[in-house]
Amino acid sequence: MNKALSGFRILDMTHVQAGPTASQLMAWLGADVIKLEPPTGDITRGQLRDVPDADSLYFTMLNCNKRSITVNMKSESGKMLFTELLKHCDVVMENFGPGVIERLGFSWEKIHKINPRIVMASIKGFGSTGPYADFKAYENVAQAMGGSMSTTGFEDGPPLVTGAQIGDSGTGLHLVIGILAALHHRNQTGLGQYVECAMLDCVMNLARVKFRDHQRLTRGPLAEFSVPTEGLTATPRGGNDSGGGQLGNAVKCKPGGPNDYLYVVVQEVVWEGLAKRIGGEALATDPRFAHIKDRRKNQNEMWRLLNEFASNYTKWEMMKILNNLDVPCGPIMSTEDLVNDEHVKLREMIVELPHPTRGEWLNVGCPIKLSESPVEVKRSPLLGEHTEEILKEVLDYTDQEIHALREGNAFNAPAKAKAA
Ligand SMILES: CC(C)(COP(=O)(O)OP(=O)(O)OC[C@H]1O[C@@H](n2cnc3c(N)ncnc32)[C@H](O)[C@@H]1OP(=O)(O)O)[C@@H](O)C(=O)NCCC(=O)NCCS
Repeated sequence: MNKALSGFRILDMTHVQAGPTASQLMAWLGADVIKLEPPTGDITRGQLRDVPDADSLYFTMLNCNKRSITVNMKSESGKMLFTELLKHCDVVMENFGPGVIERLGFSWEKIHKINPRIVMASIKGFGSTGPYADFKAYENVAQAMGGSMSTTGFEDGPPLVTGAQIGDSGTGLHLVIGILAALHHRNQTGLGQYVECAMLDCVMNLARVKFRDHQRLTRGPLAEFSVPTEGLTATPRGGNDSGGGQLGNAVKCKPGGPNDYLYVVVQEVVWEGLAKRIGGEALATDPRFAHIKDRRKNQNEMWRLLNEFASNYTKWEMMKILNNLDVPCGPIMSTEDLVNDEHVKLREMIVELPHPTRGEWLNVGCPIKLSESPVEVKRSPLLGEHTEEILKEVLDYTDQEIHALREGNAFNAPAKAKAA
C-alpha cells in the first residue's frame, strides 16, 4: 500500500535514542529510511543486552522499518560512497556530538553544494550557537537544563527526572516536524535547508507552562499549587498538582501498593456530583468548597476527604465510580499493566515482532493513526543487512563495483573502533 511518506528517501546517520526515534517515525510513516552505521554499528546495538549476541531491545525498539548499511566514513571510499548517497536522498539526519559531522568533512554548506534539494536535520544538545554549543548531551542533561527537573518532584525533595524521555524522544518529535516543514518548503522552492533541534530548546518547549507560572509569580502566589508559593522567584516543584486551570492530584487507593493511586481532576463542572458521592449533601453545600477559588484555598482538606473515600476501593473500582460521575481520572498504570491492557492492545500500542537472532519481542506501536495509510511496524534491521541491496538499488552499483568498495575499506571498521 502507498504510505503517507512513500517516495521520500532518508539517509539516517542518527545514533543512540534522540535521532533514531525521529527516523523511526519517518520510516513508520512510509519514508525509505537508510540507516547508515559505522562498521561497528550504532552503539545501542550492544548496550543493555538481554540476549547474548543479539541486538539489544534498546536498538530494536528505536530502529524499526529501516534498512541498514554500514559505511566507514573515515575512509576515502566511504566518504565517496556517502557523497553518492547524498545525491539520491531527500533528507540526511544526524545527532552526533558538536563538530563531528564537520570533522568527517561534511558541513551543511558542503552537503548543500552536493545536493541543493536535500534537507539536513540535526539534533544537538544545545544547538550550534551560544556558549553551550560545544557540549555533548544525554536525556537527563537536557531535562536538568531545560526546566523539567527543577519543576518535577516534591517541594521538600530533590529535583527529579521524568520517566518519559522528553529530552531524547521529545526532541526527535520536534525534528520530524521540522523535516516535514522543510520538505514542504523544498517542494515549493526547490531548495533544501538546515533543520536544527537542540535538546535544551525542545525540553523548554515541553515545559512551556512552567514559564507561564514563572511570570505569574511576579504578581503574587499561585493559588492552584498545594504548596506555598509566596515570595518565590522561580516555578517550584508541585508534586502531583495538576499544574493547570483545574485542580488535580493522585489519590491513594486499596491495597496501598506503589502504583495503587488514581489521578483525579476535580473539574469545576463535576464538583457537585463528586461531592455528593463522597460526602453527601453536606459536602456538596459546604461553603469551604463552593467554588473553585474556595477549593483551591482549601484543597489540602479536599484531597484528604478524597483520599479517605478512595482508601475503600482499588484504583480500578475508584475509576469506575468516578467515570460514572464524568470525573476525568486515570489509574497509575505500571508497564506490566500496560503491556497486558486490552485497550492498549486493541490500539496496537504494544506490537509483537519477530527477529532473526532474538526471537519474538514487544515494541511500543506507532501513536499516529492514519486512516488511508496505516502504519505497519516491521522489525529493526541487522547490522549492514541491506548494504548490497541499497548499493544496487539506489546507486545502480554492480557486483564488481561493490567488491572494489569493500577492498577500498568503505565498509570496514576504522582502526580506532576495531581496537575498542
Ligand atoms: C550522544 C552523544 C553524547 C554521544 O557521544 P559520543 O559517543 O562521544 O559520539 P559522538 O557523536 O561525539 O562521536 C561519534 C564518533 O563516531 C564517528 N562515526 C560516526 N559514524 C561513523 C561512520 N559511519 N564511520 C566512521 N566513524 C563514524 C564520528 O566520526 C565520531 O568520531 P570522532 O569523535 O573521532 O569525531 C553525542 O553524539 C551528542 O552529544 N549528540 C548530540 C545530542 C544527542 O543527540 N544526544 C542524545 C543522544 S540519545
